[in-house]
Amino acid sequence: MTGPRPPRLLFVCLGNICRSPLAEAAMRAAAGREGVAVEVDSAGTGDWHIGKPPDRRAIATAARHGLDIGGLRGRQVGLDDFDAFDRLIALDRDNLDALRALAPEGARASLSLLLDHVEGRSGQDVTDPYFGEDEGFEQAWRDISAGVEGLLAEICRQPSR
Ligand code: 4NP
Repeated sequence: MTGPRPPRLLFVCLGNICRSPLAEAAMRAAAGREGVAVEVDSAGTGDWHIGKPPDRRAIATAARHGLDIGGLRGRQVGLDDFDAFDRLIALDRDNLDALRALAPEGARASLSLLLDHVEGRSGQDVTDPYFGEDEGFEQAWRDISAGVEGLLAEICRQPSR
């Protein structure tokens, strides 16, 4: 017997080397801790970092929080993702807009911003840390952790589809 299929989640940022790999790893870890079955991946709306490992500052940030993201590789979001995933979760509004522009008619996946899943933070961006100081990665991690916890709680409250 097979049970209901786990929700499939795709986190989407611009480069898929900083924020969305952190979100992917944070969700995998949180779901594992809570014993919730989910399938998780990440992608970028841009194509500059296809096949590349995460930014070294993202790898270091994940490591500080006990996670290894060194094996992840960048990929670009594609039209198939709108059917393969239940939810596409953008890290900021620019990337949400890019997903809306790309979405095929009748796409199955729902679109949201990660911080929509945090009370009082709906509509807010996880700021892109790529061009900033190292501290930006820690701030991004805090926002990503909060978003992932909120999203996971929401998934747990929903009847499985
Ligand atoms: P990410 O950060 O979207 O969080 O992966 C970025 C990574 C690379 C670039 C921009 C943002 N870039 O312009 O190459």
